[in-house]
Amino acid sequence: MISAAIVGGTGYTGIELIRLLSSHPEVSIDLLTSRSEAGRRADEIFPSLRGISDLVFSDLGDETLTALQKCDVVFFATPHGVAMQQAEALTQAGVKVVDLAADFRLQSLADFEHWYQQPHACPDLLKTAVYGLPEINRDKLSEALVVGNPGCYPTTAILGLKPIIELENVQAERLIEPRIVIDAKSGVSGAGRQAKLALNYAETTDNFNAYGVTGHRHLPEIEQGIEQLLSSQFSHRVRFLPHLVPMIRGMFSSIHLELTEAGKAIDWQSTFEDSYHQEAFIDVLPAGIYPDTRSVRASNRLRIAVHQNNERSELTVLVVQDNLVKGAAGQAVQNMNVMFGLDETLGLNFAPIVP
Ligand SMILES: NC(=O)c1ccc[n+]([C@@H]2O[C@H](COP(=O)([O-])OP(=O)(O)OC[C@H]3O[C@@H](n4cnc5c(N)ncnc54)[C@H](OP(=O)(O)O)[C@@H]3O)[C@@H](O)[C@H]2O)c1
Repeated sequence: MISAAIVGGTGYTGIELIRLLSSHPEVSIDLLTSRSEAGRRADEIFPSLRGISDLVFSDLGDETLTALQKCDVVFFATPHGVAMQQAEALTQAGVKVVDLAADFRLQSLADFEHWYQQPHACPDLLKTAVYGLPEINRDKLSEALVVGNPGCYPTTAILGLKPIIELENVQAERLIEPRIVIDAKSGVSGAGRQAKLALNYAETTDNFNAYGVTGHRHLPEIEQGIEQLLSSQFSHRVRFLPHLVPMIRGMFSSIHLELTEAGKAIDWQSTFEDSYHQEAFIDVLPAGIYPDTRSVRASNRLRIAVHQNNERSELTVLVVQDNLVKGAAGQAVQNMNVMFGLDETLGLNFAPIVP
């Protein structure tokens, strides 16, 4: 069995990790940390875990690192800046690290410091970290010691663009015009479990608002995904507009693209189907179908639909996922499976919940 620890088990991605790993056949959760709920059983705080988990939250203070070093893998479901303080000591002890925050996502130190307003604690380790999108980085993940689990919006954006950028590279010609517009919506759980006025029931219910329009932390991650991960031969300008919508879970990203003359000639439906036909968690919907967020709720699936206008000049890629699963904890478990040479779908092959 793989001995796992979860740091930050009281948050929304933390409880999602407990839910997923508790039924994973190859994993035992041996340490669950929380500073605010230390000493309490997880199922006291989350009754959904009654009968599923006997775990108790612990705060070992100075002893935390020593306890984490006894595990095989540590998941950090914490705010940005926490994992990078301990990752070096953990990897030196042979422990693998999956960070759900942004400490190991951006390879550019300048970008990290600009967007997260703090210096990076272990720049050398960052260079060896692998960006945790298995559908693109599977080979590197199998050798990785540290994985930067992607942000939720970038997961939808990068996977929504992958077939297009890859085909541009193969054909060595522009198929889309340089400007990419990503209009994205997230459920409220995307902002975490901490109490904040803007996330109150009365503020978020029956309401719909944009945020981060002049600049959002996920923009450089999406740009990095296009330039480095997908190795685009062409430059693109990304306009990213996130919104908060009155639902608990779910994310819907609409990617708007203008096609070049060469791009108009492409059969985009087949291109997407061919690109993802071997991916267990990516579902390309039949032509003409619109995805909805409840079709992926509580599952690790990401569904994509490709729509082209009648003049064939515009392509819209619609992507849905559960922000807490494929957008966070599920993807982290998928990454762990790859890191440990397990079947990638282990512990993740369950149907979404409807209604
Ligand atoms: N929510 C999403 O949909 C989503 C999607 C993708 C990625 N993420 C990223 O995943 C991470 C966790 O997100 P979340 O939504 O689960 O956040 P959350 O609900 O706010 O939970 C944060 C957790 O971190 C712990 N924590 C806070 N400060 C800490 C510190 N200094 N040291 C150790 N533990 C600390 C908290 O527990 P105690 O205070 O009890 O210690 C809590 O359990 C964030 O970096 C977030 O950006 C979230």
